Amino acid sequence: MEKPFVLYALCGSQRKASTNRRLLEALRDNAPAGVAIEISELIGELPIFNSDREGENTPAIVEAFAAKIGAADGLIVACPEYAHGLPGGLKNALDWLVSRDEVPFKPVMIVHASHRGDFALEQLTEVLRTMSLRLVDEAFLRIPLLGKSDDAQVAMLGGLSESERLSTAIAEFRSAICSGRIDR
Ligand SMILES: Cc1cc2nc3c(=O)[nH]c(=O)nc-3n(C[C@H](O)[C@H](O)[C@H](O)COP(=O)(O)O)c2cc1C
Repeated sequence: MEKPFVLYALCGSQRKASTNRRLLEALRDNAPAGVAIEISELIGELPIFNSDREGENTPAIVEAFAAKIGAADGLIVACPEYAHGLPGGLKNALDWLVSRDEVPFKPVMIVHASHRGDFALEQLTEVLRTMSLRLVDEAFLRIPLLGKSDDAQVAMLGGLSESERLSTAIAEFRSAICSGRIDR
């Protein structure tokens, strides 16, 4: 059997009712055949980054997180904007990866569940590029769930599922990775 194409998804919001998480779940549930999306459950469990705890002192949970990143064919990142910046938990998770070899050249798709939050998107882009990840600009997906009722969010994602917008977005990301068409 062919090895599945694995995407590891990072959600910058730890809220149970997170719209960004809901968007990631919808992408996971609509992934095209052969693509497996796993949403990270580790970000909220990571200790605060400390460079004294790198190398042989690296906490096991950080090693587990980095291993998931290393094994993935690409990453999907979704995050809200907090005070015109990145959520601290997501930045902390990324800081653990800066000096490691799992992330350079790893393809990334950014998705965003709000019509607002451009400061956070700009910062996220800058941080990921600085860490030498490869952003696939054409795969960027913005779905404005923020401010909508639960029912309206379900209806919007249901419509996007029916129109195959979600599966197409993932298929385009995979295609960009497989063809080597990746922006710098
Ligand atoms: C601490 C905090 C700070 C926020 N700061 C901003 C902000 O600067 N700009 C903005 O557009 N929204 C801001 N928001 C709103 C969130 O970005 C918004 O609710 C987001 O969509 C929540 O994402 P989630 O549903 O995935 O948790 C803030 C929310 C919180 C909790």
